[in-house]
Amino acid sequence: MPNIVVLPGDGIGPEVTAEAVKCLELLSDSCDLELTFEEHAFGGAAIDTDGEPLPERTLEACRRADAILLGAVGGPRWDHSPVRPEAGLLGLRSALGLYANLRPAHVIAGLESLSPLKASVATGADVLVVRELTGGLYFGEKSHGEESASDLCTYSRTEVERIAHVAFKAARGRRRKVTSVDKANVLATSKLWRRTVEVVALQYPDVALEHLYVDAAALALATAPSRFDVILTENMFGDILSDQLSAIGGSIGLVASASLGDSAPMIFEPIHGSAPDIAGRDIANPAGAIASAVMLIDQALGLPDEAALLGKALEQTLVDGWRTADLDGEHGCAAFGNRVREMLQMRLGRRVAIMELIAMNRGCCA
Ligand code: NAD
Ligand code: IPM
Ligand code: MN
Repeated sequence: MPNIVVLPGDGIGPEVTAEAVKCLELLSDSCDLELTFEEHAFGGAAIDTDGEPLPERTLEACRRADAILLGAVGGPRWDHSPVRPEAGLLGLRSALGLYANLRPAHVIAGLESLSPLKASVATGADVLVVRELTGGLYFGEKSHGEESASDLCTYSRTEVERIAHVAFKAARGRRRKVTSVDKANVLATSKLWRRTVEVVALQYPDVALEHLYVDAAALALATAPSRFDVILTENMFGDILSDQLSAIGGSIGLVASASLGDSAPMIFEPIHGSAPDIAGRDIANPAGAIASAVMLIDQALGLPDEAALLGKALEQTLVDGWRTADLDGEHGCAAFGNRVREMLQMRLGRRVAIMELIAMNRGCCA
C-alpha cells in the first residue's frame, strides 16, 4: 500500500494540491492501487501550529513515505518571522538528499496561442530543466550584517558529477542534447562546473553537449526555445530559468517538478509559489499540481500506463478549451480539477471496456 505524504503548505498550495489528491484517489480506486494519504503541517501553516516550518513529525512522516506531494509555501504573513516557511522547503530537500530537480515544460501541440511567444518561435518547444537542488548559493555559509551581508557559493566536483549524470541519462530518453548553463566567464564555481560536465560527458558519447552562459541562455529561452532539449544548471540559475521557461507554455501554473536523490522518497511539486495575490479565491490553476501527480505515479510508483491516463486527461481538458484565470479563462480551480477527473473517468471506462473485450476474445478462442 504506497503511502503518500501530502504537504499542502500555504496560499494556493492547499487549493491546487486538493485537486491533485482527488485525481490520485480516483485513479487509486479505479485501478486498485491502494494508495494511502497522510497530510502534514508544513511551511507557514506549520509555523502557526508548531512554531517551525518543518516540524520533526512532518520530517519523520516524509522519511517513511513512498512519495511526497507538495503544494507551495510562503506568504507575506511570514515574511518577517524569525524562520521563514521557505526554510522548511530547503530543509526538507536537504534532509532527504534530493539534489536533482527535474522541471519539464512544453508547448502543447495545438495550444501555441497560449504562449506569449510568436507561434513560429513557440511551436515544438519541449525543454527539461535539470536543476541542482542542494548546493550553491542557497546552502553556502551566510553572514547577515547591518552594513554588509554575504552568501557563499560553493560546489564540489562530486556534486557537479552526480547532477550531470542525471541530465545525461534524462537526455538519453529524449532528444540526446544537453545544454550546460553556467557563468564560467566570471565564476570559479562555474569553471569547475564546466570542466566537470565535460569529463562526465565522455561517458555519454551518444549525447551532444553544448555550454551556454546563463545570460545568453535567458535570451535563447525567449527567442529560440526549440534549440533546447535538456538544460543542466546549478541551483540559483535553475530556479530563475525554470520560471522563465514556464512562461513559454502559457503559465507558470502548468509546470510540475520532481526532486530526487539516491534513494526514495522523491518530492513532487508544481514549480510555482503560494501566489498570495490570488489565494483563497478558487482561481488558481491546478494543472501544475496535477501534472506533479502524473510524475509521481510514473516515477515514484513506477506505473507509466496509469500516469499516462491522468496526463492525457489533463491535456485533453486544456485542448478542449478549459482555462483558469492565468490563461485568460473563467474556470475555477475546483471546476478545472473536476473536468480533469471526468476526462480520467472516461478514459478509465474505455480501458475497462477494452480489457473486457480482450478477456471475451480469449474466452472465445480458448
Ligand atoms: P508565485 O509563483 O507564487 O507567483 C508568481 C505569479 O504567478 C503571481 O502573479 C501568481 O498569481 C502567479 N501564479 C503562480 N502560480 C499560479 C497558479 N497555479 N495559477 C495561477 N497563477 C499562478 O511567486 P511569488 O509571488 O514570487 O512568491 C509568493 C510566495 O511563494 C513567496 O513567499 C515565495 O517565497 C514562495 N514560493 C514558494 C515556492 C514553493 O513552495 N515551491 C516556489 C516559489 C515561490
Ligand atoms: C522553487 C522556489 C524555492 C526555490 C524557494 C521558495 C525556496 O522558488 O521551488 O522554485 O528557490 O527553490
Ligand atoms: Mn522558484
